Amino acid sequence: MEEKLPEHIAVIMDGNGRWARERGLPRSRGHLAGVDAVRALVRECRRLGIGYVTVYAFSRENWRRPETEVSFLFDLFLQFLRQELPELMKEDIRLSFIGEAGDLPFAVRHALEYAMKKTAGNRSMVFTLAISYAGREEILRAARLALEKGLRPEELTEEAFRTLLYDPALPDPDLVIRTSGEERLSNFLLFQSAYAELYFSPVLWPDFGPEELKKALTSYAGRVRRFGRTDEQLR
Ligand code: FPP
Repeated sequence: MEEKLPEHIAVIMDGNGRWARERGLPRSRGHLAGVDAVRALVRECRRLGIGYVTVYAFSRENWRRPETEVSFLFDLFLQFLRQELPELMKEDIRLSFIGEAGDLPFAVRHALEYAMKKTAGNRSMVFTLAISYAGREEILRAARLALEKGLRPEELTEEAFRTLLYDPALPDPDLVIRTSGEERLSNFLLFQSAYAELYFSPVLWPDFGPEELKKALTSYAGRVRRFGRTDEQLR
């Protein structure tokens, strides 16, 4: 397909609620449809040979949603982790997590840890769930860790700082996709997205299937990433 694929795609899945409302359905039905879209995304990226896929499943700010919606979402995460484990094993996909693990209900935390342990040896792709994640909090936490470790100012290089992020092995995203027409990062991977290409789709998350992903990849393939250099230097 496209000649230049991103190594790491990060996705802000937005629009489940609007998808449901348009159909006269409760918001929960939008989230259920959103899970199917996550499954399809992972499958397609695996097929294409994309190395890393990260999805923003729940931000720290999302705790402000009604209690019933929050508990529905966490039940969904739990069910997803349990149901998808055989597929992750079959497809040789490693599961990873970024976010405040301490915020999570015990059962979800346990299921995440179990799935991460089981898939730890998988090598074909890394699928990262961002749950109770906030980019600023990740940066502040890293800064606090640096202080706790007693690092001297000159020791706090970019490289050293990265080792203090939630998942130091996660490469920077090459492409950040946000659905539903919103054009914001909303505290997602703030440190890591410094040079990411951004792609905003008007499509609501449950409708973001392989065809829509293809559009995002085509857009990405057509972009020139200069990383501060001039066009001439890149020739
Ligand atoms: C955004 O839609 C979606 C969320 C906050 C939750 C994301 C969850 C899923 C896609 C389902 C579960 C995912 C996994 C990984 C199992 P919204 O509710 O903000 O939509 P709206 O802006 O239209 O209200």
